[in-house]
Order: sequence, then C-alpha cells, then structure tokens
Amino acid sequence: MKKIGLLTSGGDASGMNAAIRAVVRTAITYKMKVVGFKKGFLGLIKDYALEMDSKSVSGIICQGGTILHTTRCPEFKEKKGRAKAIDVINKHKLEGIVVIGGEGSMRGLAELIEDSGIAGIGIPGTIDNDIFGTDYAIGFDTAVNVAVNAIDNIRDTATSHERLFLVEVMGRHAGYIAIFTGIASGVEDCLVPETISHIDILIDKLKAGHKRGKESSIVIVAEGDDAGGAFDIEKKIRKKTAWETRVSVLGHIQRGGRPTAIDRINASRLGVAAVEALKNGVTTKMVGLDKDDIAFVDLEDVWSKKKELSSEYIRMVDILST
Ligand code: F6P
Repeated sequence: MKKIGLLTSGGDASGMNAAIRAVVRTAITYKMKVVGFKKGFLGLIKDYALEMDSKSVSGIICQGGTILHTTRCPEFKEKKGRAKAIDVINKHKLEGIVVIGGEGSMRGLAELIEDSGIAGIGIPGTIDNDIFGTDYAIGFDTAVNVAVNAIDNIRDTATSHERLFLVEVMGRHAGYIAIFTGIASGVEDCLVPETISHIDILIDKLKAGHKRGKESSIVIVAEGDDAGGAFDIEKKIRKKTAWETRVSVLGHIQRGGRPTAIDRINASRLGVAAVEALKNGVTTKMVGLDKDDIAFVDLEDVWSKKKELSSEYIRMVDILST
C-alpha cells in the first residue's frame, strides 16, 4: 500500500490530533503517503485534500479538537454523495483510508468500502464512549476530566449555599460520561439513559441523605436521560419540594481542552495499529481497545450492536453515595 486517505468525522474529541499524528508518522515509517481531507466525509466529496508530512503533525499531540476539522455529512449517506467521494479517491490513487469518528462515521466508512472496494480501518473517537467493540473511544477520558473539574468547583458553591445542584453532562444515548464523572466526583446520584429515572425515588434518596446530615447535593443528569434534561428535572423536583435548586449545563466545554495523557497515549496506539493493519491487508474493521489490548471488530458490528453500560458502575454510584 502506497497512499492512504485520512479524515475525522462527527463530533470532535480531544485526542483526535494525537491519532492523526500517529497515523501520519506510522505511514511515513512504512513509506506510505497520507492525504488528509478537511471537514470529514464532506471534504472527501469536495476534495478538500492536503498532503500530510511529518512536519504537518508536529506540535499537535497536546491540542484538543482536530486539525483536519470535522462535520456531520448527510450527503455522504446517499449513494450519489459517496460516488463523488469515490471519484476523489480515484483521483488521488488512494488504496486505503483511515476514518476517526463515532458510530455514524464507522457506518459511513463501511458503506464507502462497499461501494468503492478501497481498504478501510476505523478509529473510535467520541466523548460519549458508546461505540460497540471497544472499551475506549478517543476523547472520553478528557471529557470526564473536564466534567470532574467543573463539578469540583460546583461542589464548593453547593456546599457554601447548602443547595441541590443538577449538573447536565453530554451523552445523547449513553451515560458513560455521567457515571464515570459521578464516581470520580462523589455525587449523590446519576440519571442516565440506560435506566428508567424516577423523580420520586430520587427525591426520597436526597431526603435520606439530608437526614444523615448532608447539607448539599449534586445530581448528574446525562443529556439523553428519559426523564429529560437537567432543567426538566429541576422543574419536576420544584413541584414536589421547596428545595433551593440550581442547574448547570456543562455543554461543549466537555468536548475541548488539552487531551489527557490517557487520551494521547491510547489515540497514538490506535493510530499506529490502524496503519499497520492496512499495511498487513486488514480491512473493514475498527481498531479498538479490549481492556488494554489492541482489538479489531467488524465495522458492521460497530453500528448494528449496542455497547452496554455495565450495571456494576451504576450500582457503585448508589453504594458510594450512602
Ligand atoms: O456525540 C458526541 C456529542 O458530544 C454528544 O454527547 C452531544 O449530544 C453531541 O455530540 C452534540 O453535538 P453538536 O456539537 O453537533 O451539537
């Protein structure tokens, strides 16, 4: 294999730059050329191409976001859109492609491989960490650390005013950020999409804590929780109690910031493994981590199977908040 394409797609995640750097430098090691495409699959359709050499990725390992920029590209879901991308692939004589992104991006990659016959490897990148076939996705660790730092700050003011805080974290369909942040910052409860949330049970739990002497409480709400976002839940609590409650929605600060060492190291490992896989003739797989080992999973499994949030974590939040 002499020339490969590279793009980042979907929501950006801290550590994507470390993966880009690893892909480029591994390819150079094996005498392969890399063409980067800006703005995800849109850039592949529009030919927003740039040749990437070792210098083009220097100094980026510590930067959040993605130097290749990213989009969600509805046009790529259509065969017509992908046909334009295939013209660009042929123009650049690409034999392989690496796509860094979430579940939707892995699906896009699988469809591109099917339509074009190009070899392709996916690298999981999403702060939500909800991708089947890997324990870890790029950006998750940084997002959790950002949220934990924010909640440590909120704890100070919650304690001083003896208030209840509802803190909303990202996670459209998954409670990974909520649960990991909750365990690391010692919150009173976490409401996640994986379990049905009962406001009465939450209120009883908070009252019991109050009886035990807790003067303030923090509850994390994953944005995709079945009971609603943090503002909806606050309204429901206010209807039933006279508690002084505040809401804080952390939002996109969780997507930015300097990647943690864990994100830099894991992203680098995945980048190296992706290029070595292409070089060895592997295709139509996503490279991930199974515990601490590099593991490959069929792309189709990535978007057709659901990664379950272990009930052990959910149980821990209950135990640790008593
Ligand atoms: O999928 C990652 C994610 O950060 C979700 O947690 C969040 O719901 C979504 O992206 C936000 O997307 P956007 O930046 O397009 O608003």
